[in-house]
Amino acid sequence: MCGIVGYIGKKDTTRFLLDGLKELEYRGYDSTGMALLNNNKIDVFKALGKLTNLVNKISNASLEQYPIGIGHTRWATHGKPTELNAHPHLGEYSYVVHNGIIENYKEIKEELQAQGVKFLSQTDTEVIVHLFESFYNKSNDSKKAFENTIEKLKGAFSILLISKADPEKIFFFKNGSPLIIAKGNDEGEVMFASSDAPLIGFAQDVVYLEDGVGGIASASNIEFLSDNYTWSTLPTSKQFAQKDGFRFFMEKEIYEQSDVVSDCMLGRIQDESINFDEINPNLIEGIKEIKLCACGTSYHAGLTSSYLFERLSKIKCNVEIASEFRYKEPLLTKDTLFIVISQSGETADTLEALKMAKNAGLKSLVICNVDNSSMTRLADYTILTRAGIEKGVASTKAFSTQTVVLWMLSLYFAKINGSISNEKLQSELKALREVPKTLIVEDKIHEKCRRLSKRYLHGHGFFFIGRDVFFPLALEGALKLKEISYLHAEGYPAGEMKHGPIALADPELFTIALMPQNLLYDKIKSNVEELSARDSTICAISPLDFDLSDDFIKTQETEHYMLEFFEMLVVLQLLSMEISIRLGNDVDMPRNLAKSVTVE
Ligand code: M6R
Repeated sequence: MCGIVGYIGKKDTTRFLLDGLKELEYRGYDSTGMALLNNNKIDVFKALGKLTNLVNKISNASLEQYPIGIGHTRWATHGKPTELNAHPHLGEYSYVVHNGIIENYKEIKEELQAQGVKFLSQTDTEVIVHLFESFYNKSNDSKKAFENTIEKLKGAFSILLISKADPEKIFFFKNGSPLIIAKGNDEGEVMFASSDAPLIGFAQDVVYLEDGVGGIASASNIEFLSDNYTWSTLPTSKQFAQKDGFRFFMEKEIYEQSDVVSDCMLGRIQDESINFDEINPNLIEGIKEIKLCACGTSYHAGLTSSYLFERLSKIKCNVEIASEFRYKEPLLTKDTLFIVISQSGETADTLEALKMAKNAGLKSLVICNVDNSSMTRLADYTILTRAGIEKGVASTKAFSTQTVVLWMLSLYFAKINGSISNEKLQSELKALREVPKTLIVEDKIHEKCRRLSKRYLHGHGFFFIGRDVFFPLALEGALKLKEISYLHAEGYPAGEMKHGPIALADPELFTIALMPQNLLYDKIKSNVEELSARDSTICAISPLDFDLSDDFIKTQETEHYMLEFFEMLVVLQLLSMEISIRLGNDVDMPRNLAKSVTVE
């Protein structure tokens, strides 16, 4: 996702910002930019694509010594990746860089346009700088103008703002997306970054800003607008910093799920309905069937959503593994909406399936994490999952965001189709809003998974079982375990066990049973009892106590099965990771696997 850096001091500001942006590259971005302030002059550079494009532009310019600068890497959310939409965004005399999404930008933009303000970009960010100037023009007081601006914004916004109105200062604020302020090692130096890596080696004293905290920094003073901040010491290792202190990227990405799912829902869940700016409401006009196509984890997200599309949108839905779909000579009719799901947007089989659907004249939509990827360029419509770059080969946050997008989409279609009552829609929206909370990793759950992991390092196999949407979740749990632990695991529909696999049951067969309270509890309970009667070792995951289990992971009691789904997802991810760690495997780069499978 987007990255921010800022600098006040006597070093080469341009160099500091470029090096800082380089450190943030791993988060993924599609354009870059910086604004450099020297008294009454601001120089701005922006470039589409990689940071080297910005470096090339800057090396052709005649640069001065700038005591202040702000820089940004942009991951497009509102508005395409173009140079015009790249940050910093300009008002008449100020510039801003921003991470997050301004939810009420449309209202603010309309108000400002009515006052005669002209907008250049398609971004939500641009409202911030115009709003600041509109307040400043009235009060001539930069601090007041900044405070008024912050008060007016809704959503997630971590920002740095510079202005010729007060040319020795950087105005900063953090809400939602991360932001750090640091006192540099040299006197009079102040630095900003959206993660520690750009600051390491240059500063020791930092404040990891809390939500709702901001202030005004200059070479001589850092003024906070509230008391809610604490100085702490920066770590010294960059590797450690990139992982935010976690042992593995996979672990970091599991812990990030709550935040990225919030990003993913921003602006899409509105007061009483779902909105997707990126698709046209007439997308399902004349559509009688949805066909989903994907590979691996993305296929599991698709399979999960097939229950939701039929249950909520009342649209016939089927799901295909892309490598199978390609060669089955599928019957494709134009009353089918073709949806592909891909974290990378580059998976060869899924891409080929999308091409086939396009050639057959089907309407197409991609649910993807990487803008400007091959699939987003090809599909008629794109919904981005906004998970930020995923580094661990074992997919975690991509799956949770894909599933949330697909759940939201099923409700969006349900509303258009009139297949859902308002009461039901409101209760689904209430549950959706609770997903980020459900995804927060509780210490006690992580510790339980860590302790349990030592009991599951042997045996002749694992069966993950569940019913309904908990069946694809079982598939996903089994995939996670096998790819990073190299232990044999299968996901199975619980009701199918007695049709064959139950013959394997003995104490060395580990059953991981997904037993949600809100969906078919009695049915899954009987299936697990059958396995227990045949001496399989049972690890039950459920909010309800279950006497027959050998091991038990207790989840929260909630009101919606999808909230149980997301909580159990985290348990499965942690359990596989802890087993993999105990086995001494490379968690982030398991053997034989690649992050992006661009060959058939
Ligand atoms: O980038 P994609 O979502 O298209 O990748 C599809 C699969 O290769 C991927 O989901 C894979 O199964 C995961 N890395 C497993 O964790």
